[in-house]
Amino acid sequence: MPQAVVPRLDRLAFGGDYNPEQWPEEVHEEDVRLMVEAGVSMVTVGVFSWALLEPQEGRYETAWLRRVMDRLHGAGIRVDLATPSASPPPWFSAAHPESLPMTREGVRLGVGAREHYCASSPDYRRAAQALASHLAGELGDHPALALWHIGNEFGAQVGRCWCPVSERAFRVWLQARYGDLDALNRAWGTAFWSQRYGEWEEITAPRVAPMPVNPSQQLDFLRFASDEHLACFTGERDAVRAHGTGVPITTNFMATTCANLDYWRWAPEVDVVTNDHYLTAEDERPHLGLAMSADVTRGLAGGGPWLLLEHSTSAVNWQPRNVAKRPGEMRRNALAHVARGSEGAMYFQWRASRAGAEKFHSAMVPHAGTDSALWRDVVALGADLGRLAEVRGSVVQDEVAMVWDWPSRWALELEFRPTVDLGFEERAAATYEALHDLHRTVAVVPVDAELERLARYPVLVLPQAYLVPDGAAAVLAAYVEQGGHLVVPFFSGIVDATDTVPDGPYPGQLREVLGLDVEEWHPLRAGQRVALSGDDGGADGPVGDVWSERVRPRGAQVLRTFADGPDAGHPAVTRHSRGAGTAWYVATRLPVAGLRDLLAEVLDAAGLPASGLARDLEVVRRRGEDADYVFALNHSGVPAALGATGTDLLTGREHAGAVEVPAGGAVVVREACRA
Ligand code: GLA
Repeated sequence: MPQAVVPRLDRLAFGGDYNPEQWPEEVHEEDVRLMVEAGVSMVTVGVFSWALLEPQEGRYETAWLRRVMDRLHGAGIRVDLATPSASPPPWFSAAHPESLPMTREGVRLGVGAREHYCASSPDYRRAAQALASHLAGELGDHPALALWHIGNEFGAQVGRCWCPVSERAFRVWLQARYGDLDALNRAWGTAFWSQRYGEWEEITAPRVAPMPVNPSQQLDFLRFASDEHLACFTGERDAVRAHGTGVPITTNFMATTCANLDYWRWAPEVDVVTNDHYLTAEDERPHLGLAMSADVTRGLAGGGPWLLLEHSTSAVNWQPRNVAKRPGEMRRNALAHVARGSEGAMYFQWRASRAGAEKFHSAMVPHAGTDSALWRDVVALGADLGRLAEVRGSVVQDEVAMVWDWPSRWALELEFRPTVDLGFEERAAATYEALHDLHRTVAVVPVDAELERLARYPVLVLPQAYLVPDGAAAVLAAYVEQGGHLVVPFFSGIVDATDTVPDGPYPGQLREVLGLDVEEWHPLRAGQRVALSGDDGGADGPVGDVWSERVRPRGAQVLRTFADGPDAGHPAVTRHSRGAGTAWYVATRLPVAGLRDLLAEVLDAAGLPASGLARDLEVVRRRGEDADYVFALNHSGVPAALGATGTDLLTGREHAGAVEVPAGGAVVVREACRA
């Protein structure tokens, strides 16, 4: 059984970002009283407090923070203590103007917001680490301290910087990656367009140029930028660790919403994987994006527990239309994160700000105060989470796997691809929605996962894996040989890690396992559709868009053909038996419904039949040492049926087989362990 992610907590984490510096002392008293009323167990403090903690260079003032922590401790509330490095104070930026980041166009970003620093700036790193070290020295032994939180959402807004300092750091990073210029010239294919480099100093960050800059260079710059932020994190982490506080250290990821970082490289560096997630409020089914973010986070945590550090009680303030949550939605959202492995549900933020850019963001204590439905819902949720303490340490039972890979996404979305209609985010969301509608809990894995990890799942789906690094294709082939069902869409396995096309026809990396070659692509016009043959061979099958291509089977069996379009009469969906398993291939972009039908067929072949659950009943099982916990969240407006036997931890009701989950409601049934 994995260790609880925050060992100093004896219940699920419930609370939020707490900014007492925005309020007078008397409000601090009320804050703590209300936190106790709501069952708050932990709050995050200090996230943006640099200007108060170090009002002048080297002059530290932590007494106020100690008072805040003392007060919280007195009420039994734990602290997630943040280092404030996400927002350097004005004095720092004034003293070190070269630490301000620069855009690709060469524009220096200004102060007055946050995240105004270049991740490669030695002055910034030195100052951030010095403050982190000071905080750990002063407060590292505070009895309220339960978690360290380095910075905030690294790379969220300023993922990359093109300033001269970054450019020099890029060269150093390249020297470490390639060793010598010959290797770099080979990897970047610089024979093309007269780009051969003779000196390291000739290499620039990929600036604005007359045409697309070398894609291998751009891809390396994106990797470099992610690594520079990671170095900021590990620098501060090590400064804290040096004080030996023994408290786990994290930084809050944005698993599905920050495309700037390769979190697979980050995850091994944190003691606890944590995540922030905000609904896309205008989505008709916003719980799907939430579930995918939670599943990606759990994947980063290696399938084990993790912690949700931020979401919202209701509307945010930064989307075009900040739709408020509907009755019951806040509760279902929090429980969905817990269902998917989070050891709590934290919010941005505790008390709504009166000033500043985020004053219209919802909070646990809204501007309306405690005589409000929202506050009553917060108090009720605190009680619900209090009843779920025993789920801590239990493990989500994943059923199928889906690949998620940042470098592949970066490379896919560079310029001069066969069509502008390719996009990782859209394909990932569509694939995830199809699996979600089939009621299968998704394990998210990297494209180069070890065979042992992949072999746990009977089905592995690649939403769109344009880039497959050397070595990974052999693992995918071995996965199939051993009995796995691999599902691959068009335009996958096209290039290696340097964005270079291997010798031979497409999809070079995956040709063997799929048992086919692709002779030529036929991207479709905007809005153009292609029909596929139906089950009986007629033209009434699914309809694809964006892509058609000429597939030549070399051992693969044809399941459907294109009924029209540039490849009419040629294969559109194939299946290749290899060893004990099967590799499936789809040569067009299927909408969610088409993907769902195809994946239902794959799941069935893999021994995972249809669940019979209502479409918007979300069901996830967590397995503990002595019991299973079946979370069922009904996102629809009508009651839904579930089969489960045991006690509902939320109501204490006993269920013997048939459970009715109320419209918009939730149950968490403790069942005898099925293992
Ligand atoms: C992010 C940040 C918070 C806050 C919220 C608003 O998650 O970490 O500080 O800005 O967004 O939604």
